[in-house]
Amino acid sequence: MSKITIDIPIVKVPDHPEWPELTEHEEAELKHSIKDMLEEQNGVLVAHYYTDGRLQDLAEETGGCVADSLEMARFGTESRADTLVVAGVRFMGETSKILNHEKRVLMPELKATCSLDEGCPADLFSAFCDRFPEHTVVVYANTSAEVKARSDWVVTSSIALDVVRHLKERGEKILWAPDKHLGKYIQKTTGADMIFWPASCVVHEEFKVFALQRLRALHPDAAVLVHPESPEEVIDQADVVGSTTALIKAVTQMNNLKFIVATDAGIFNKMRQLAPEKELIEAPTVGEGATCQSCAHCPWMGMNSLQNLYDVLKNGTNEIHISPELARKARIPIQRMLDFAKTKR
Ligand code: 13P
Ligand code: SF4
Repeated sequence: MSKITIDIPIVKVPDHPEWPELTEHEEAELKHSIKDMLEEQNGVLVAHYYTDGRLQDLAEETGGCVADSLEMARFGTESRADTLVVAGVRFMGETSKILNHEKRVLMPELKATCSLDEGCPADLFSAFCDRFPEHTVVVYANTSAEVKARSDWVVTSSIALDVVRHLKERGEKILWAPDKHLGKYIQKTTGADMIFWPASCVVHEEFKVFALQRLRALHPDAAVLVHPESPEEVIDQADVVGSTTALIKAVTQMNNLKFIVATDAGIFNKMRQLAPEKELIEAPTVGEGATCQSCAHCPWMGMNSLQNLYDVLKNGTNEIHISPELARKARIPIQRMLDFAKTKR
């Protein structure tokens, strides 16, 4: 790996939001009103696997989807809805808007960002790209519309390896941003010539290898599942490394009855639904002398709730706006990924 130093902003991690407990009656009322409003407004709910399980379930019950970031992007383009309500983080709503400029895109909370997005400001990133004009710029979906517009390819964790292999076969050198851990994993796996932007995911960065090894020794029959935004030494412990979809698939398809899971704990909702007989254990986020900021719960994903979902549908607030020119530029590398993904289906 080339040694390049870049000063990136320090990301302030918010506290995990505390939502008031709802009575069974209040919850049922909220869900009922949300369902009615989605129908009246010809809207669909598109939720990520890390959001509150009630939002995930509601998305599926109402004809929307719960998915990884690639599938969320795809779902919006294939839907006939006029309104997409994206329960996830800001880049997911922006990607939906970029791909569906004629649709209204709402989000329960516009401040729900991502440490990777925050750690890669467009002006600094653009200056970095200018220094390496001979590199193909590949950015992870967890970035702003402006950063996407500066790239040649956008990728998500489920397609990143395939895209980089493809570029390597074409003899291209890659400038990768913003997740250094995912970038390193891809480089190690593909052998591609890559330089990296040094941001990271505050949630996955907290998984601790020594504690994981100890946990593993206590459960020798468990398979270890790791999202590739985790540090290299944690990835090295994995039986399966992959996107949220790939990790869910592993739980349903592997014969193991126990799994240690190193990703946001919101994913357990879908894993439990699909494989109720399997035991799921959270990978440790606290090592000796360390405390966790997020403790395997993304604080920004946690900003989505039934209450603010209800509010945006009721008031039509929190709409994502992206200028047509920016959307046009950012759509090119996203569409390139979607077209490439079709060849892999
Ligand atoms: P996936 O695309 O694997 O769902 O990941 C998105 C994400 O933000 C993981 O932290
Ligand atoms: Fe971003 Fe990490 Fe949260 Fe995913 S889990 S949205 S990468 S901060």
